[in-house]
Amino acid sequence: MQKQEKIVQMFNEIAPSYDKANRILSFGIDTKWRQDAIKRVQKHINKDDLVIVDVACGTADMCALLKNIKHTKLIGIDPSEGMLKIAKQRFSDIDFKQAYATALGLDDESVDLITISFGFRNVVEKEQALKEFKRVLKKDGILLILEFFKREKGGFIAKIRDFYLKNILPSIGALISKNKQAYEYLPNSIDDFYSNNEFKEELKQLDLELLEFKTYSFGVSSLFIIKK
Ligand SMILES: C[S@@+](CC[C@H](N)C(=O)[O-])C[C@H]1O[C@@H](n2cnc3c(N)ncnc32)[C@H](O)[C@@H]1O
Repeated sequence: MQKQEKIVQMFNEIAPSYDKANRILSFGIDTKWRQDAIKRVQKHINKDDLVIVDVACGTADMCALLKNIKHTKLIGIDPSEGMLKIAKQRFSDIDFKQAYATALGLDDESVDLITISFGFRNVVEKEQALKEFKRVLKKDGILLILEFFKREKGGFIAKIRDFYLKNILPSIGALISKNKQAYEYLPNSIDDFYSNNEFKEELKQLDLELLEFKTYSFGVSSLFIIKK
């Protein structure tokens, strides 16, 4: 199995316990980050007939909040059948679609807002995904990325985050999901990911404009609001 397929298979396996594990392991703090991110992105959008796509939607935590923004279409996209099954059970009024971030199966310039929360790290071909987001976004369309970025030098609180993720989270995650490997994957995926500054450089390379950047909880997670 290829690396990307293995990652998706892992999400299939933990899907039934994902929501419970997430709430316990994150102490619910992720909801506050998501709410703030959505409040901020709305300041950059001045239309209400929005087409919104939540990529790597998982069990639809982000869609649950995006539903409250005025829109004409909201689509949740994820390659994991297991995660989508839960999402569909939670929200029968949202369209869900099985696809990878690198091949969304959407028309060129058809989307106003793409969000991806705690999902971009799992995409193996990240640059390809950014190009795909750029392709489907309308002119001046917005991309919101909420994610755990790699710690930069001196990031003391992020150091504590990494200790928690490496030494505490896998055991608790294993207890809840019976899948320790999946929860060991999380810290490793952060080590392999961009730092905030590396990602800012990547955006420049792809000619994407950074509108807003913010870190939450002293650098534990980061928000990027980007314009095509
Ligand atoms: C940690 S969950 C996050 C789910 C949700 N966005 C949230 O905030 O709770 C990561 C999600 O990324 C999805 N994923 C993994 N590889 C992906 C890819 N290449 N393209 C899109 N989504 C992917 C997984 O299936 C999983 O549902």
